[in-house]
This record gives sequence, structure tokens and C-alpha cells, in this order.
Amino acid sequence: MIRPYSETGSKKEQVTTMFDNIAYRYDFLNSFLSVGIDRRWRKKALQPIRQEKVEITLDLACGTGDFSFTILKMLKPLQVIGVDLSEKMLEIAQSKTRKMKLQEKVHFIHCDCENLIFDSNKFDLVTVAFGVRNFENPDKGIAEMFRVLKPGGIVVVLEFSKPKGALRSKLFKFYFNRILPIIGRMVSKDISAYRYLPESVNVFPSGKEFQAMLETAGFVDLNMVQMTFGVATAYYGRKPR
Ligand SMILES: C[S@@+](CC[C@H](N)C(=O)[O-])C[C@H]1O[C@@H](n2cnc3c(N)ncnc32)[C@H](O)[C@@H]1O
Repeated sequence: MIRPYSETGSKKEQVTTMFDNIAYRYDFLNSFLSVGIDRRWRKKALQPIRQEKVEITLDLACGTGDFSFTILKMLKPLQVIGVDLSEKMLEIAQSKTRKMKLQEKVHFIHCDCENLIFDSNKFDLVTVAFGVRNFENPDKGIAEMFRVLKPGGIVVVLEFSKPKGALRSKLFKFYFNRILPIIGRMVSKDISAYRYLPESVNVFPSGKEFQAMLETAGFVDLNMVQMTFGVATAYYGRKPR
């Protein structure tokens, strides 16, 4: 298991500390390192479910809230609840909510995605963007997504993946493994965080392998959409009715 700081100890604690440390630079680094493409990925991930009737949504590992706000804008649910373990990331999400005057629509809560505090069969849509790879036990997190979804409810997981094609793959690896950690380290001042990012992507299942994890949890109607030559992939599934 890849952990941000030390090879031993709780991944959950280390990941939380890491996001607390980089929270104040997270949004800037996301846009800068992806040249703004991360915003397009979040929108594109929601495009295939735009026609679905969604009233209550749970956005897991919501961080500073950008996916939660995109969901609200694109799908217009009555309510979005975002949960995360990093208090500092949540503080930024809450401050954006106040600035946009969205307090009645979006709520950010401190909660572990592997032990959700919500009742079963509650949500129409459960999402997670760039979060599942960071879970200590991704299978447990996916089982929780399944539990809290209503029968017929949808799951959307957006995550980094590995691009196909020799040249693209080489270019991506060079940028992701060599350039990105240097810029990330300089801007965030956290030596490990942007080394952990490519390492965690390299070992995390993607494509059919990740889809199989959703299938094992019980999801049906599985689908996936690759983005930017497969640098990221959106995965879709439904809880059987
Ligand atoms: C890369 S950020 C993604 C934030 C946001 N979804 C986005 O699209 O920018 C990953 C987030 O996952 C959160 N996280 C990791 N493990 C978690 C867990 N078990 N429960 C709740 N949040 C978790 C981290 O605190 C961090 O804010």
C-alpha cells in the first residue's frame, strides 16, 4: 500500500494530514498542473447522467468542493452533501459555499467515506472524484457507496488512469512522475504529497480492473468514459432496483 509519508502506519491518517497540509494550495495546483483540464473532466464525468432525476446527492472525498458545486450546477438536485476527512479542505469548501450563498443547497460534513454516518438506501447519486485511490480500503468505501444508494441509484467515480499508446504513455509518465512532483513540492511546500500522487496512481486499478471492483460490490449497468487519452476515467454503475 502506498502511503504519503511513511511506509508504516495508518494510510487514512497520513492522507488526512497530507490534504490538511496542502489544502491552501490545492485548487491552485489542480488548475495549474492540469492546465485547467480537471474542471473539464468533472463536467464531462456528469454529462452522461444529465437526464437522470437526482434529488439528493452524496459527494464523497469532496475536498474543497469543486465536484459538489459542479453537480449542483449541472444536475440541479435539491441537495448535495459533501463529506471528507480533511478539516482544512472542508473549511475551504465551506467558505466557497458562503461566498456563493449556497448554504441551503450544499452541506459539507466531516466524515469517513469507509464508515458513512448515513442510513442505507438514502441517495439518488453517489459520486467521488479523485478520492477512491486515497482510501485506506477502497473495497470498503465502494461497499459503503452501494449501501447508501437507493435501489436504482447511480454511482459516478472519476479517477486518474493510465493512458494507452506508447508515446502518450511515455509523455504522461514523464510529466506525471518527473515534472509534476517538482512543481507540486515547490508550490505546496509538502515534500511528499506530489510524489505520492503519481505513485498512488501507478498502483491503483484502472479500466476493466476498477470496473470489476464495482461489479463485485453489486453494481450493474457498468460503463466507463476515458478522458484526455485515458489520463482520467469516469466509471458509472447502478444499484439494482
Ligand atoms: C484529491 S482530493 C479530491 C477532492 C475533490 N473530490 C476534487 O475533485 O478535487 C482527495 C480527497 O479525499 C479525501 N479522503 C481520502 N480518504 C478519505 C476517507 N476515507 N474519507 C473521507 N475523505 C477522504 C482527502 O481528505 C481529500 O480531500
